[in-house]
Amino acid sequence: MSSLLQNQVAIITGAGRGIGAATAHLFAAQGASVVVSDRDAEPTEEVVQEIRSAGGIAMGVPGDVTDPAFPDTLIKATMAEYGALHILVNNAGYTWDGMLHKMSDKQWEAMLAVHNTAPFRLVRAASPHMRDAAKKELATGQVPPPRCIINVSSTSGLHGNVGQLNYATAKMGMVGFTKTVAKEWGAFGIRCNAVAFGYIETRLTQAKESGETIAVDGEEIPLGVPSHLHDMVKMMIPLGRTGTVEEAAGSILLLASPFAGYINGHTLEVTGGMGI
Ligand SMILES: NC(=O)c1ccc[n+]([C@@H]2O[C@H](COP(=O)([O-])OP(=O)(O)OC[C@H]3O[C@@H](n4cnc5c(N)ncnc54)[C@H](O)[C@@H]3O)[C@@H](O)[C@H]2O)c1
Repeated sequence: MSSLLQNQVAIITGAGRGIGAATAHLFAAQGASVVVSDRDAEPTEEVVQEIRSAGGIAMGVPGDVTDPAFPDTLIKATMAEYGALHILVNNAGYTWDGMLHKMSDKQWEAMLAVHNTAPFRLVRAASPHMRDAAKKELATGQVPPPRCIINVSSTSGLHGNVGQLNYATAKMGMVGFTKTVAKEWGAFGIRCNAVAFGYIETRLTQAKESGETIAVDGEEIPLGVPSHLHDMVKMMIPLGRTGTVEEAAGSILLLASPFAGYINGHTLEVTGGMGI
């Protein structure tokens, strides 16, 4: 175990699989007490058990971040178990692709709900334990511990992407969200940054034909990209390959670590050089 995040408590949403799970493992290996949260209870528990088996500290709080009551539940459970909150990673998300002219209101609103409204409610619910806690510490002459928020965005947001009007709009929304929190909470020493991933190997970027879906309101939404694009994408990436979840998690750790102590309001593109 290393100690970049020693004595820090981190909530990671969407941590049951993919980038969130890899981030939970990496944060725990760096000494953080990790709150693993995902809408799917089974993978949430698996990640918790894996972290504990490796000697790390973790608890699971399964739930849907788009449920208006869940952010409070998640923050309360974290405070009850660990008594503090230093890092919040807004990672939970998915894609619900379609061309603009065929996109339903439900499809549009689902992307804003999971990528914008849920992080807003979570940061607001965390405010007493992050912003207000730092304010009190500063008022009493204490040096606040490091605190930060990291939002997971996408190059689809920064550059647009065919078939992803809803997702691109929401992921670009996270950039404005990030900059605003950085400006509002910077005075309390709380940093807020975003990572915009390109192609990281998860079920969101595998060939659509492999048939992965996510259930939303009883509807099975297909995940992935069409296989011809999946095969072509490597040609657009200067590094010549897609990224791993471990590499994605590394970039989130970088922004959470003391090495990023003066980085605030930034959106880090993690793409292997795609789109430069
Ligand atoms: N994979 C990529 O290339 C890529 C690129 C850009 C951005 N992203 C973003 O990275 C984040 C993680 O995606 P991933 O690729 O690891 O996908 P993934 O499907 O492997 O993991 C996402 C996790 O989020 C959870 N989740 C989804 N909706 C949720 C909700 N409403 N409440 C709670 N949990 C929920 C899922 O159950 C899943 O476990 C997402 O925000 C995604 O948009 C991924």
